[in-house]
Amino acid sequence: MITAVYPGSFDPATYGHLDVIRRASVSFDRIIVGVLHNSAKSPLFSVEERVNILERATESLHNVEVKPFDGLSVNFARENGAQVIVRGLRAVTDFEYELQMAQTNRVLAPDVDTVFLTTSLEYAYLSSTIMKEVARFGGDLSKFAPPEITDAVRAKLNLMNL
Ligand code: PNS
Repeated sequence: MITAVYPGSFDPATYGHLDVIRRASVSFDRIIVGVLHNSAKSPLFSVEERVNILERATESLHNVEVKPFDGLSVNFARENGAQVIVRGLRAVTDFEYELQMAQTNRVLAPDVDTVFLTTSLEYAYLSSTIMKEVARFGGDLSKFAPPEITDAVRAKLNLMNL
C-alpha cells in the first residue's frame, strides 16, 4: 500500500493541480493533498477555504483526502505514513527549485522519495498566480479551473474590491 502526499499552496487549485491529483490517484493507493498553512506568500484564500475548494473538486476520487499542514512537507509525509511526495513539473523553469527541494527533502528524510509528474501539455503554462492575474482584469477563467473554483476566485476578488 503506497501512500503519497501532494503538498502545495493551492491558492486556489487549477486544472493543472487537479490533473496531477487525478493521475497520482491512479498510480498510488492513497493520495493526501497537503495545503500549506504557513506560506510566506500572503494567500488570497484562507487555508480552510483552500482545503474546502480542493475537497469539493476531488470528491469523485475515492482515494484522495485533503488536509491542511504546517511546517515541513517531509514531516507531513511521515505523519501520514506516506513513502512518496508528488510534485508537478511544468517546464524547465520549475526544475531547479523542484530539484533543490527534492534533494533537501531527501537529506531530511531518506525514507521519503519525491516523484515528479510532468504536467499535461494543455496546462503547462498555468498557475494559480496566472489565474488570479487574469481574474483581476475580468478575463475568461474557464480554461483554468472548474466553475466552482473560478466563481470562488471572482467572489473573493469582488469582496476585496480587487
Ligand atoms: O504550491 P507551491 O507553493 O509550489 O508549494 C511549495 C511547497 C508547499 C511544496 C513547499 O514550499 C514546501 O514543501 N513547504 C513546506 C516547507 C518545506 O518542507 N520546504 C522544503 C524543504 S526546503
